[in-house]
Amino acid sequence: MAEHQVGKIGPVILLGPPGAGKGTQAKQIVERYNIPQISTGDLLRDHVQRATPLGVEARSIMARGELVPDELMYGIVADRLRAPDCANGYVLDGFPRTAAQAGWLDAFLEEQVFDKSEKCPPVVIQLLVDYTQLLLRLTGRRSCPACGRLYNIHSQPPRFDELCDVDSSKLVIRNDDRQEVISERLSAYERLTEPVAGYYRAQGRLVAVNADRTPDEITAELFGVLDSHARAVCDKTAKPE
Ligand code: AP5
Repeated sequence: MAEHQVGKIGPVILLGPPGAGKGTQAKQIVERYNIPQISTGDLLRDHVQRATPLGVEARSIMARGELVPDELMYGIVADRLRAPDCANGYVLDGFPRTAAQAGWLDAFLEEQVFDKSEKCPPVVIQLLVDYTQLLLRLTGRRSCPACGRLYNIHSQPPRFDELCDVDSSKLVIRNDDRQEVISERLSAYERLTEPVAGYYRAQGRLVAVNADRTPDEITAELFGVLDSHARAVCDKTAKPE
């Protein structure tokens, strides 16, 4: 879908369990609002691949399906959010994931925006999906190592067996999409990330969306939520009083 002119959109936070479709929907939002996707999972996987000190530490934690300690996350997120391409907004996919990370992000955003007239508060969208569906989505997920395009052997298969439609690369399975790791990831979500939804709900910022539908149906609802947010909150707060 073509880029859409709605002015400043600010931070968009996608919350949801593993396999909820955060990455799938983030890519649609990126295209429409011309803002970057910041996936902490992708940032960490990049560190693992490059074997940086963070990557070496995170590797076994991620392979077990556990969360990387909060203190290791703050530096990479802060660095990324300070990049110039984040000036008009960004989609956070996979962060915050603990109540402590949510508190840290609020403090970071408060500190980062010196001119309060420029402030645009985050919109937080929670993707709700049935547990059985999540298992199907995670066990069926395949991705292209070259272009990053996502597939699912059950719901969105490639045209030719296990090959990317765009560049014909052999599709890969993510290291943590194994049955035993999936259950630990889902359990970590319930224990540590569900409270983040409560944190934002208490602030009146949480928008819950039924994500047990087709990707296009979900995208249409998200665009509606984000367009309204941009008009009602960001346009107003972006203008000096
Ligand atoms: P991360 O990479 O963030 O993974 P995740 O949260 O487990 O989420 P996924 O990427 O698995 O799922 P998704 O919701 O993006 O779904 P997708 O769109 O791909 O984190 C990985 C690890 O990094 C963590 O376990 C942790 O160790 C660490 N980490 C990351 N951030 C951290 C943080 N902040 N703090 C600490 N540790 C952190 O879709 C899944 C599949 O479903 C695809 O095949 C897709 O095609 C399909 N699909 C999508 N939507 C639909 C639909 N509507 N209908 C049918 N199929 C669909």
